[in-house]
Amino acid sequence: MDITRRQLGTLVGAALLTPYLPARRAAAALAWQLMWAPEASSVGLGAFETIEDDRADSHPAGQPHIFAEGNNFRFNMHTVDRDTMTDRQRQEVTGTRNPSGYLQWLKGETWRVTYSMFIPSSLKATTTFTHISQTKMPGTGGLPITTTSLRRVNGVQTIEHTIYEQGILVGRTNLEPLQDKWIDAEYEIKIGDGSAGSVRWVLRDGSTTLVDATKTGDTFLGDRVRPKWGIYRSLGDTSGSLQNCYMLLTNMRAYKQVQVTATRLEAENATISQGVVESNHAGYSGTGFVNSDNVAGAYTQWGFQQGTAGPATLTIRYANGTSANRPMDVTVNGTVVASGLSFAGTGAWTTWASKTVNATLVAGANTVRLTATTANGCPNLDYLDITGP
Ligand code: GCU
Repeated sequence: MDITRRQLGTLVGAALLTPYLPARRAAAALAWQLMWAPEASSVGLGAFETIEDDRADSHPAGQPHIFAEGNNFRFNMHTVDRDTMTDRQRQEVTGTRNPSGYLQWLKGETWRVTYSMFIPSSLKATTTFTHISQTKMPGTGGLPITTTSLRRVNGVQTIEHTIYEQGILVGRTNLEPLQDKWIDAEYEIKIGDGSAGSVRWVLRDGSTTLVDATKTGDTFLGDRVRPKWGIYRSLGDTSGSLQNCYMLLTNMRAYKQVQVTATRLEAENATISQGVVESNHAGYSGTGFVNSDNVAGAYTQWGFQQGTAGPATLTIRYANGTSANRPMDVTVNGTVVASGLSFAGTGAWTTWASKTVNATLVAGANTVRLTATTANGCPNLDYLDITGP
């Protein structure tokens, strides 16, 4: 039976709603908890654990080389700047600091960092190393764990991310199309020894994703992992690329992956329009899944109560054994929050995948409806997980 919002509105009180609510249970889910979101204009360099601004004091006239400029963090590099090891230059910040202290990124944890960066054409890729971000174990002298670097490959300027010691290239793309504009970087580091570690690196130019790659590799040396940003480069470049330059960073965010409890609503308990419950493809949760008719407009709708209003993550588990996309509209309380969201083939009807959508829920009764927007119908639907508020 379909409960429309209008009908729901005529029902009074949770007790009356209860018979129409699907079975729900708690499920463990992973979520990203925002841990660090410094605004350069207010916290300045207090965003970081330490500042390595011309630590050899090689160029006092150029100091500060690192500072907040508007809402950006700015790193200036002059050709005369020298690090304590004089074959290289370094203007870097380390770590992620909140008013209550710096964050510790520990073995077994997974962290995600996102930020926007501006690489001017004066900051060029070199034949030897030019790192613009690293992760390291605290202390001087240790090797990097991961690096984002501007490297010349066969004469072409590129930007790359590596798991350093094992020489694992996570991803690489051409640098020149990305200079003199804001681009967005994202990386995730699962901190572990050997194959327990992994890194994901994403680089976007506006809505275009240039790299989204994940590689397994050792991401733990000892103690803890600490990120660094800035310009750290060798003077050994043979391409004539070293000149006065700078880099800007903004919108820096760090998230830690945490276990949270989600409410799981099985599709087989939902309101189904133009579809049936089946159980012939293994791997589903609960007692089955919904196989919608192959028509536009077929939908599955869940109704549920929320204690508090606020942002939530909706996780949709599905399988699509065809090679054709099966887009759906995601409608929350009557408003489309994701239009024609793509649900691409998963390889087999027994291969289940998840897609997340952010939505704002109200206190009290809520509905989430997934509606096929093409004649292919919906993918097979297993469940809806609701995480937060
Ligand atoms: C097959 C498959 C179903 C699926 C259907 C479809 O019949 O067994 O589970 O729903 O294809 O294309 O929608």
